[in-house]
This record gives sequence, structure tokens and C-alpha cells, in this order.
Amino acid sequence: MLDYEREADVYDATRGGEPRAEAAADALLGLLPEDTGRLLDVACGTGSVTRRLAAGRPGLRVTGADLADAMTRYSAARLPGAVVRADSRRLPFPDGTFDAVTSVWLLHLIDDPDDVRAILRECARVLRPGGMYLTTVDKAEAHDVGSDIDAVLVPRPRHPAPDASETVAAHAAVYGLVPAGQARFPGVGQGRSPRSTVADLRRGWFTTLTPGSPLAEQLAADLGTLPDQDRPRPDPVFTLQAFRKG
Ligand SMILES: C[S@@+](CC[C@H](N)C(=O)[O-])C[C@H]1O[C@@H](n2cnc3c(N)ncnc32)[C@H](O)[C@@H]1O
Repeated sequence: MLDYEREADVYDATRGGEPRAEAAADALLGLLPEDTGRLLDVACGTGSVTRRLAAGRPGLRVTGADLADAMTRYSAARLPGAVVRADSRRLPFPDGTFDAVTSVWLLHLIDDPDDVRAILRECARVLRPGGMYLTTVDKAEAHDVGSDIDAVLVPRPRHPAPDASETVAAHAAVYGLVPAGQARFPGVGQGRSPRSTVADLRRGWFTTLTPGSPLAEQLAADLGTLPDQDRPRPDPVFTLQAFRKG
């Protein structure tokens, strides 16, 4: 996983900023029942999405939680008094506290299946019966938009995505979470250019490619031959999966 203590200062600028946050928050709000009161946003990061959830609907009381101190400093500044530093594998809230729990761009980062299960167990535990859990799924797949960049990246090793929709649904079922709808949102500003992809290769964004390894350098060289080095290819479209606690 990237080091989010170091990533915090560049996070918003490199993840689509406010347009991406707005698209994600709108999609989340569209899936939430009207009577949702207390909402927990786990892995809230810098709080750009969390803040829009809090502002997006009167009556919604939003709490953010994130593991990284540097990320919570940004989110706490956006949502004073409403952010805690917490590991989503061990949430510091009593059972049944929330009407809804959200996790945007978390599960794809979690390498150990036991940790994915622990996160889903905890999200289900802090939900009241009938509450909603909303999470992004299939993130890596969304980045493959069929571009010339994706063609160059084909030889990279793949591992099973921790946030694959079937995997998440299977884990969720164990904790009484039943599929309850889907939404999509555009990763505004997230389209790759050849040059930005080389930079991502070299900073470890591709988890199966060690920066500086012969394959990473070969792919970087191949990306360097593509036309329009700074032209972003199409934005990805991300999927949100909703679950209801039975
Ligand atoms: C890609 S960012 C997503 C942030 C935010 N949800 C967004 O959409 O902008 C992933 C976040 O997950 C946090 N994170 C990683 N593992 C975590 C864990 N076990 N518990 C809580 N947060 C975690 C990181 O610190 C980081 O802020």
C-alpha cells in the first residue's frame, strides 16, 4: 500500500480534487435512503468526499475515520470535531451506532483477505439492522479503459483484486450484508496519460510492479514511445456497491 502519511499533501491534487469528490459524494447520496441519520465514512482520507456528504443532505450527521495521521489532519480541518483516527479493522464504536457506513477507495488497498473480512465485519457490526453499507468495488478494472496505455501495461503481473465485486459480496454475506443496489461515478481527472503512468510506475502505484525492476523499466520505456505524452486518456468510471444489513 502507498504510504498515506506521505501521500496526504498531494492527495487531493492527484486524485481528481473537488470534481472527483463531488461525483463520488453525489453517487453515494443517491444510494442512501432519505431517512439516513448517522453516517460513518471509513478511510475518509483528506475528507473531500466526507465533507460533501455532510453538506449534501440536511439531517445527515457524518463521522469520518482514517488510519493515517496525516490524512486525518486534512479531514479534521474540513470536518472539525467529526473525525477520528481509527483502523477500520477495529472500529471504536458500539454495535449498531450508524444508519450508514461508506468506504470509498479502501478495499482495493487491502492485501490480506483476513483484513478485508475484518473491515466488512466491523462495518456490519457498527451498522444498525436495516442500515446501509456502501463501498467502491472493482477499482483496478475501472482504470482499464481500453486505451493504448492499457495495451502497453498488459504484461504486468496481476493478482486477484481484493475489492472484486464477487469477493466483496461473498465476505459481506457472512456478516449479514445483502446486495441492495449499485451506482457509478466518473473518476473526473483520473484518466492516465503516458507520462503520468510512467510517474505512477516509478512511485509504486502499481502494486505488482516494483519501481526500478526490469519489467517496470521496460514498460516505462514502451510508454515513452506512445504519442501525445501528456494527453489524458478517458476517465475511468467507478462502481459503488450497496449492501443492506439484514
Ligand atoms: C485511496 S485513499 C481514499 C480516501 C477517501 N475515501 C477518498 O475517496 O478520497 C485510502 C485511505 O484509506 C486509508 N486506510 C488504509 N487502510 C486503512 C485502515 N485499515 N483503516 C482506516 N483507513 C485506512 C488511508 O490512510 C487512506 O486515507
